[in-house]
Amino acid sequence: MTSVPDYVLQNRAHWDKQAVDYVASGERHWAQSTPSWGIWNVPESDLHILPNALAGKDAIELGCGTAYVSSWLARRGAKVVGIDNSEQQLETARRLQREHKLEFRLLHGNAESVPYPDASFDFAISEYGACLWADPKKWVAEAARLLRPGGRLHFLTNAFLLMLCADEDETKPATDRLLRPAFGVYRTEWPGDSGIEFHLSHADWIRLLRSSGFEIEDLIDVRPPEDATTHYPFVTVDWARTWPSEEVWKVRKQI
Ligand SMILES: C[S@@+](CC[C@H](N)C(=O)[O-])C[C@H]1O[C@@H](n2cnc3c(N)ncnc32)[C@H](O)[C@@H]1O
Repeated sequence: MTSVPDYVLQNRAHWDKQAVDYVASGERHWAQSTPSWGIWNVPESDLHILPNALAGKDAIELGCGTAYVSSWLARRGAKVVGIDNSEQQLETARRLQREHKLEFRLLHGNAESVPYPDASFDFAISEYGACLWADPKKWVAEAARLLRPGGRLHFLTNAFLLMLCADEDETKPATDRLLRPAFGVYRTEWPGDSGIEFHLSHADWIRLLRSSGFEIEDLIDVRPPEDATTHYPFVTVDWARTWPSEEVWKVRKQI
């Protein structure tokens, strides 16, 4: 039997506890027919995270949480699978599936080890899911295995610069000071009752993605729209208008 890594178990407990605070966001996002992304709700028309032709395509969301991204994929005709490490998050996802009368497969498990054969999917996506909470060396290799040649992986996570400036106390916003070294960042554990995150420099992402068989198509520094607000206290709109707070990677498995 393969053992489950310590951070997967710790993050499972963390997200089972957090799930109650993500119900409202799940409900709001499920009710949207037009996607918006990240902590600033940037419209899909600005970021183009979803590929154009999804009808009939096999898609997987790695760390789907309440599965609203999966719902957007399913409504565009994709055959979707969502995998998540938290049974409590999936419980909300299943209720929202019933309420919206939208069916797709939801799996409880670790996105580093997905029970599907090689080359099962055309598109893989993660919005603050496995791309933040799973070990990049493992989940990127797994995404490469799961995708067909030419298949795309798109993910959105915290910008690296924000992670260097973020206060250890997440209720305090980042300032213009670098609080930790850029070199050697990987597994990140914030003080208190938090989960275990993974952050990589752009150089490390590029090296990892390329050595896993991906070509890099785009890297977007996300900027908050005109009317942006967020309920996350660790960064202000002013900061995010000056420096990148979120980043979107778009990569394609080599043919
Ligand atoms: C912030 S939510 C992402 C979902 C949604 N896009 C959102 O922003 O609310 C993070 C999710 O990643 C899941 N997660 C963390 N580690 C994971 C892993 N190793 N495999 C699958 N899911 C994981 C958590 O259980 C949680 O539901």
